[in-house]
Amino acid sequence: MYMKIKTAILAVMICAAANADDTLSSTYDHFVDESGNISLPDNFRRDWAFLGTWSIAKDDVETSSAASGHGAAGLHNVYTQRATIDYFRKTGKFPDGAVIVKELLKAATASMTTGTVSRGTEVEGWFVMVKDTKGRFQSNPLWGDGWGWSLFNAGQSDSTVTTNYKTECIGCHIPARKDDWIYLNGYPVLEATP
Ligand code: HEC
Repeated sequence: MYMKIKTAILAVMICAAANADDTLSSTYDHFVDESGNISLPDNFRRDWAFLGTWSIAKDDVETSSAASGHGAAGLHNVYTQRATIDYFRKTGKFPDGAVIVKELLKAATASMTTGTVSRGTEVEGWFVMVKDTKGRFQSNPLWGDGWGWSLFNAGQSDSTVTTNYKTECIGCHIPARKDDWIYLNGYPVLEATP
């Protein structure tokens, strides 16, 4: 009886581990081709976990006077796989195959019963990072420093518009270098909560 329970527990544990691993190792089957070209994951909004939002204040954007005033000029919504959150909470690191998608939305601001409120409107594009702990694509200039890096414009989610992460991405991520290039303070969900 005792042995049976032990075997059953072991089976459940193996199964759970396999599921967690499947989610992330499948990244390289589904979202990255053999040359390292990244594609935007389908349905990440519905199926993945929400990491956090960055609100870009209007005041910081150089625009016409019509756009000035209170509220957000844009919102950046960030998503990842649930297994990435589980792994990060345990280890403080991003697992191989972690995908982080930052969706850029335009914003509109209106007076509502809660106050002056900005909401996301149309999608402008997506920044995507794919964690690579194995140095898979050393000759591809979209890969390096532990990640694959790509930007997709709205309406063109199947092909990236960027060609070189060193000139187009990493310079702006230097303030987050010690956190594996990720701006962690926008993502409280990564901290293990009680
Ligand atoms: C102009 C500076 C700038 C450039 C260029 C830039 N980033 Fe970022 N990125 C940021 C900042 C700042 C954040 C967090 C705050 C925000 O979104 O406003 C961020 C956040 C992200 C995130 C969400 C995860 C995180 O680090 O917090 C991803 C994914 C991302 N960037 C990918 C890319 C990729 C891929 C490129 C190149 C194609 C790129 N970025 C180029 C400044 C930049």
